[in-house]
Amino acid sequence: MSQAPSPQQEARFTISSIGRLYADGERIAMLTAYDYPTARILDEAGIPMLLVGDSLGQVVLGYDSTVRVTMAEMLHHTKAVVRGTRRALVVADMPFLSYGVTPEASLENAGLLMSEGGAGAVKLEGGERSARTIETIVRAGIPVMGHIGLTPQSIHQLGGHRVQGKTPQAGRQLMADALAVQQAGAFAMVLELVPEGLAAAITDRLRVPTIGIGAGAGCSGQVQVLTDLLGMNADFTPKHARHYAELHSIIKSAAEAYRADVIAGTFPGPGESTRIPESTLEEILGTSALDRPDMVEASHGIPLDRDL
Ligand code: KIV
Repeated sequence: MSQAPSPQQEARFTISSIGRLYADGERIAMLTAYDYPTARILDEAGIPMLLVGDSLGQVVLGYDSTVRVTMAEMLHHTKAVVRGTRRALVVADMPFLSYGVTPEASLENAGLLMSEGGAGAVKLEGGERSARTIETIVRAGIPVMGHIGLTPQSIHQLGGHRVQGKTPQAGRQLMADALAVQQAGAFAMVLELVPEGLAAAITDRLRVPTIGIGAGAGCSGQVQVLTDLLGMNADFTPKHARHYAELHSIIKSAAEAYRADVIAGTFPGPGESTRIPESTLEEILGTSALDRPDMVEASHGIPLDRDL
């Protein structure tokens, strides 16, 4: 199935259609999205899966980590992305501690992202440790995407954004994590910051798609944080990201040009303004001939209130 929009494929992507892309050997392109106008553009571009990632905490809300993101914030952004899409499967990240504490809370929060947020699936972090939670949510009929390797919500435990699975023991644990997530019923899983050979081997051993970020080209698909892809941050680009645009300088130049035009009085120009006839303006301002007392008598018109 093609990922590009076609008149035939007007229906929204589901986990089944994503599964078909995987079965057909077609690589799956996924991007993060956080707001309505951008989601519309990505949807028009034919991106089949959009992730409302909790990376929004850092790239949209300015927090120092994803740990600060709340359910209310995830719901707010998920609703906006869903409103902006017609075709993409929208996957909503479950924020820190919204899952894995009790099965009841995990289920309730996953349910809220679907019923109130309108997402088509949820994503949560963790391998073997999250398998029971994934199973509980999937059993309730909610599609779950797993996320193993670097799991940013555990950044305080992992001690930084480091490539995972680099030792034989860590690599074997990652393989066990992948199998546990699949066994628990996840329809796909993100592999973040994993050496490419290991990510390819994990991908080969699974029967669900792997979506890599910093995990090489051997995954079933790729996901990128949109702001990295668009070059929004002038100070930092992760090693695994490629700039497909330089929006930081484009937006900055546009804002500078606008500022200069406002200061010079050249914005707005005639084409960006509305005009009414001079006579109407005179009537509004009370400066028309009829408003002048000497002209009232001469005109024999209806006297104005102030002349009575
Ligand atoms: O929150 C996010 O954007 C993510 C991606 C990095 C996969 O989880």
